[in-house]
Amino acid sequence: MSKRKILATSALPYANGPIHLGHLVEYIQTDIWTRFQKQRGHECYYICADDTHGTPIMLKADSLGIKPEELIANTYQQHFADFSEFGIVFDNYHSTHSEENREFSSLIYKRLRDGGHISSRSITQAYDPVKEMFLPDRFIKGECPKCGAADQYGDGCEVCGATYSPTDLKNAVSAVSGEKPIEKDSVHYFFNLANFTQMLQNWTTAGHLQAEVSNKLAEWLGGGLQQWDISRDAPYFGFEIPDAPGKYFYVWLDAPIGYMASFKNFCDKTGLNFDEFWAKDSTAELYHFIGKDITYFHALFWPAMLSGANFRTPSAIFVHGFLTVNGEKMSKSRGTFIQARTYLNHLNPEYLRYYFAAKLSAGLDDLDLNFDDFSQRVNSDLVGKVVNIASRCSGFIAKRFENKLSDNCAEPELFQSFIDANEEIAKFYENREFGKAMREIMALADKANQYIDEKKPWLMAKEEGKEAELQQVCSMGINLFRVLIAYLKPVLPLMAANVEEFLNTPLQGWINEMQPLLAHTINEFKPLMTRVDAEKIAAIVADSQENLEKTPAVKAKQFDPIAPEIEYDDFSKIDLRIAKIVKAEHVEGAEKLLKLTLDIGDETRQVFAGIKSAYAPEDLQGKLTVMVANLKPRKMKFGMSEGMVLAAGPGGKDLWVLHPDDGAVAGMRVK
Ligand code: 2FM
Ligand code: ZN
Repeated sequence: MSKRKILATSALPYANGPIHLGHLVEYIQTDIWTRFQKQRGHECYYICADDTHGTPIMLKADSLGIKPEELIANTYQQHFADFSEFGIVFDNYHSTHSEENREFSSLIYKRLRDGGHISSRSITQAYDPVKEMFLPDRFIKGECPKCGAADQYGDGCEVCGATYSPTDLKNAVSAVSGEKPIEKDSVHYFFNLANFTQMLQNWTTAGHLQAEVSNKLAEWLGGGLQQWDISRDAPYFGFEIPDAPGKYFYVWLDAPIGYMASFKNFCDKTGLNFDEFWAKDSTAELYHFIGKDITYFHALFWPAMLSGANFRTPSAIFVHGFLTVNGEKMSKSRGTFIQARTYLNHLNPEYLRYYFAAKLSAGLDDLDLNFDDFSQRVNSDLVGKVVNIASRCSGFIAKRFENKLSDNCAEPELFQSFIDANEEIAKFYENREFGKAMREIMALADKANQYIDEKKPWLMAKEEGKEAELQQVCSMGINLFRVLIAYLKPVLPLMAANVEEFLNTPLQGWINEMQPLLAHTINEFKPLMTRVDAEKIAAIVADSQENLEKTPAVKAKQFDPIAPEIEYDDFSKIDLRIAKIVKAEHVEGAEKLLKLTLDIGDETRQVFAGIKSAYAPEDLQGKLTVMVANLKPRKMKFGMSEGMVLAAGPGGKDLWVLHPDDGAVAGMRVK
């Protein structure tokens, strides 16, 4: 087996949010694969970084009152800690906000420009006149042009599923300042992707992609390739374009270049040769593990950029599906949008590594984390089958033979059959068919347990003259266990390390050359894994719901910055009154609204208020609220709204109106 040079990457996580279980599918998949390659003796590097640029990161830092550099430094620590505790070991974990990345981004841009692959022209976009910035679609909100739902983003409606452009939104406002966006022109830079049509037609059909991905790309290529807008105007957190002051590289331009930059940073630390992996004539293997949502960037833009800039293209892109939990999309309200940290607070990370491995294949199907199945598989496979072998045998070896294994192998053929499985298992690992590898390994575990069941060492232990046989059978069990753990080492590195300690010998290299341990002294057996505790799963779900409750406060802060200063005259125009809610009703077809009938002393008003998330109608009747009584009546989809009620709190469930026993009376003016 000749030694391969392999560089593998996972998608770079955005530096504005925590790692969650959805992310972990990919990091665990890549970590298992790269650990496997290393165990096979190949020169393999696993490289990643935080993806730090772009508008959302800039605005998040802004809302927190910190610099983006501080935000990304904090997130880096959190991401790194989460990954480490899940046993995900990168050879290098860097940042796209790095000098290496700035240099490579400039270099690639200049080479593309000099090759005639960049053009520029003026385009018109939505602009926030208060915040003085262009608005990405996600930062424009308004009413859905199709169903009228309020508070929908510029790229699509979450209520009816319609997709549209932000200019179609009714009563559109900037989600950053609340101001009505204006249209403004500015010069943008474009990557002429169409220049690479032929190159991409060849590349996408030359075995670098899974068949279904390649088919999808044929559709895209068939539809013709558009120019890709690679620039953004200031203010933007990113790298300024070398020959275009005030223009910045769009985050998706420098993100994949972050793979190179992180590797360069690694080469500079270790003395490795960068060009051996990235030069046009490189013979090293380069693999990108990604989720299916970012295929376009990795299988079209990225190979075209690399090729246009005279670098090598990837050997393959490995695309996986999304994570669902209990058969559904991860949901914050169901408590199934689980952060890595929340999981780590309650459960052993290797449960999840094993579960994902058992369910992963080389395809693009979504992977479902079903909590019952999760407990059942971990308990039955890892605790009931694998660890059980060691716990059944080690007690006798300790008590009766001073921890010493027998000096001969009782069943060489059985041992050899375990070794002979190595090629098949290696093939499954290599092809990312981890589920099949796990099934094969568990079939061997069944075989080992059967052997022990047949030999019944617990009976031998009670019989005279069976000492030698008892030692041989238990030693055999321990040796089979050792082979199983060697197979599972890419998936369960922490358990494997504990087993190395227990067996008093390292598990190195691939299994084809493994020999049984004979006349070898092992250490005391300590429980290697306990059963999944169902209460812990319930606690994770409860904590994830709690995380949700904390989220609106951050969001409110993010999207509702302090409004611009006003004059006293502006304030004095507002007629604020205490209103008594005499009636509150559901509104047919409205997700967030309640219809309120308000008594303001001398008259009653009808107001539609978006406080359904916090109050049931019956809870509101008789309560007091403060209302803006002189707001011009507005015709809404469900009727006229004659004013605006005020409530305190960040939103969601946390919204409060006044209690009637606070001395306020309907109609009172609020001063
Ligand atoms: O989709 C995402 O989460 C991106 N941050 C992935 C970037 S991958 C690579 F191109 F950097
Ligand atoms: Zn809609």
